[in-house]
Amino acid sequence: MMKEITPQDLAGLIRRHSRLVALTGAGISVESGIPDFRSPGGLWTRYDPMEYASIQAFRKNPVKVWQLLLEMDATITPAVPNPAHYALAALEAQGKLLGVITQNVDNLHQAAGSKKVVEYHGNALRFVCDHCRGHHPREMLDFSHLPLYCLCGGLVRPDVVFFGEPIPPAAQKEANDLAQACGLLLIIGTSGEVSPANYLPMLAKDHGAVIVENNLEPTILTRGVTDYLLQGKAGELWPEVMKNLGN
Ligand code: APR
Repeated sequence: MMKEITPQDLAGLIRRHSRLVALTGAGISVESGIPDFRSPGGLWTRYDPMEYASIQAFRKNPVKVWQLLLEMDATITPAVPNPAHYALAALEAQGKLLGVITQNVDNLHQAAGSKKVVEYHGNALRFVCDHCRGHHPREMLDFSHLPLYCLCGGLVRPDVVFFGEPIPPAAQKEANDLAQACGLLLIIGTSGEVSPANYLPMLAKDHGAVIVENNLEPTILTRGVTDYLLQGKAGELWPEVMKNLGN
């Protein structure tokens, strides 16, 4: 039976458990100025993901898909980590947190100092060739002349997972290993709508983990797998959690 908790309760749970793992989604970066996808005003309320974020759409009409990619880039590039990102980095530095599995492509966990970050959906700060997977440094790219091509003739794209593409095998294995090893899973800012990321909480629970969810409102995970719900804005609540932990 799911129980609503306060930041103080969560601090107590963190003190009593070890081998924490975080599973994060767009909600953890909202206080960094990056809109999420499915809340009112979110990206998918303005762009049809199948038309703008599938690999088929990118290959068929790259200039059109670059409209979305450049809008995302414009919000991600100036963004800085918020207290929720820093809280997870601090828990890792204290040896409490094994790592972060993130669905986000904004690099904010790394920027906050997290070392073990599983980039489940890639990283939008990196650019690669869609054909030969060669790396293309951002400073060499001219976004005023789209689409961008690699010397091999392939299309240059952000190193992110489009709809219709598999999760990078190494990331999937690292995420599964963390989910199976964890004693307390912290789910922060994800609707749990997208697979296979939304399979990880059940995998953790099947291996004995306690499941804590911090979201703005209940999700399908809350009704299915969550043991404790901390409802509210991650950027505001996590300083409270860390203060109760004596940080
Ligand atoms: N603090 C905590 N949670 C928040 C906040 C906040 N400030 N703002 C929004 N949320 C919650 C929302 O209530 C929602 O439950 O974060 C969740 C965001 O859900 P989505 O917008 O669906 O984002 P996410 O779950 O990360 O999407 C998963 O879908 O489109 C793909 O690849 C994309 O990685 C993305 C994946």
